[in-house]
Amino acid sequence: MKRTIIRDLLKSEEFDRTVVVKGWIRNRRGSKNVAFVALNDGSTINNVQIVVDFEKLGENIMDGVGVGSSLSVEGQLIESQGGGQKMEIVAEKFEVLGIADPKTYPLQPKKHSLEFLREIAHLRFRTNTFGAITRIRHAMIFSVHQFFNDRGFYNIHTPIITSSDAEGAGEMFQVTTLDLQNTPMNEANEVDYKSDFFGKKTNLTVSGQLEAELAALAMGQVYTFGPTFRAENSNTTRHLSEFWMIEPEVAFNDIVDNMDLAEDMLKYCVQYALDNCKDDLEFLSKRLQEEEKGKKEADRSMELIEKLNFVAQNDFERVTYTEAIRILKNSKPNKKKKFDYVIEDWGADLQSEHERYLVEKHFKKPVILIDYPANIKAFYMKLNEDGKTVRAMDILFPGIGEIVGGSEREADLETLKSKMAALDIPEDEMYWYLDTRRFGSVPHSGFGLGFERMMLFVTGMSNIRDVIPFPRAPKQAEF
Ligand code: 4AD
Ligand code: MG
Repeated sequence: MKRTIIRDLLKSEEFDRTVVVKGWIRNRRGSKNVAFVALNDGSTINNVQIVVDFEKLGENIMDGVGVGSSLSVEGQLIESQGGGQKMEIVAEKFEVLGIADPKTYPLQPKKHSLEFLREIAHLRFRTNTFGAITRIRHAMIFSVHQFFNDRGFYNIHTPIITSSDAEGAGEMFQVTTLDLQNTPMNEANEVDYKSDFFGKKTNLTVSGQLEAELAALAMGQVYTFGPTFRAENSNTTRHLSEFWMIEPEVAFNDIVDNMDLAEDMLKYCVQYALDNCKDDLEFLSKRLQEEEKGKKEADRSMELIEKLNFVAQNDFERVTYTEAIRILKNSKPNKKKKFDYVIEDWGADLQSEHERYLVEKHFKKPVILIDYPANIKAFYMKLNEDGKTVRAMDILFPGIGEIVGGSEREADLETLKSKMAALDIPEDEMYWYLDTRRFGSVPHSGFGLGFERMMLFVTGMSNIRDVIPFPRAPKQAEF
């Protein structure tokens, strides 16, 4: 007989039939004669209850079979006698597939700290919290593709190994097959990349944007959704060395279209989670409330589902950088020098403490900041008429700070060339990018959404290492 997925089984109204389920024991209780086993197969946060009658199945059938052990059970699905669950399975055939020895199995049915679970990331999928996060992560990936597919976008796979530094930030992981003990050198005594695998220096990509632009200037509306890599030494709860980024790029869109697209997309994905991940969100919400019990009323965040509804239903605030600086300069924490970086003048780069002040204390909703000073943003952003600001946009979210970074792109060849020259970006290395401006250039815009930052928001988790299965961070590449 084929097994039924527990998620499907729990939706069923059809009782008094034989079913087969397989999964892992989450909990067991009972008496000398009977055991009640909570079985989970990962398909849902909810367990199905198995009734094991020792008289019928054998006295020793569950000896040593504790939490974490795996089972295959065939039995009668009946409406539950006891409270707490709708149905249960009275076991007729009971097979232990694999024992988890309770003396050594690290996950007992009690609360484990997230720090501890991070150390056993290979097993943390088996907890309710990480099961919920994993299912929500899938739903969010799916919602991203659905959003773009419904609007006629094409998904583009941009390269992971690249010889270009899209953001000009230089925080890249090098990819090489050269022998590091014995690197070949040229006459100038520099590393001779001609003998490296690709015949030039290559890195892991920090962004698929530049290649997405190439595609957008023929395909109209495209998006990438791929892994990106940054070798920045930021040991924070918001940064990963390997993260996933969604980057739409749209021909003929200006900065306002770009903001509309990003806002629509974020609202769509949040609404998708509300509509499709109810059980998991309710679990995470309770978890969060539990965690916040110790905090002062004023420091507690909005209840998770309420917060998601709020974002899905309210317009984001759109503000210029110049206005944001004015607000920050007049703010209490700035005047009292409570910020680590006190805002003095126009032109200052915003730190996450400033972003969070704007979102959490001042506007109390998501904020889109536009028109940043040109010199704190990347070379490809379109220069405004004032000659000193660019059509950049960052979206700032409560509890997170920057979740999206994007811009209208500089479509004018000469302006782009002079910006590159000013930043010492060699033209001959970027000829392919400049060709889009040489041949049929059009206004176009795009942005990058950090997928794990969105996951932080939707799950209410506070450390980015808990919303990706196997986090990569400085000094951390286990598994
Ligand atoms: O602002 P960023 O650096 O923008 C770009 O890479 C552009 N090329 C995007 C574009 O216009 N197509 O990164 C975009 C987003 C950030 O807003 C943030 O959400 C996320 O990527 N991000 C990170 N997420 C996790 N860990 C890190 N180290 C991140 N760095 C950026
Ligand atoms: Mg950014």
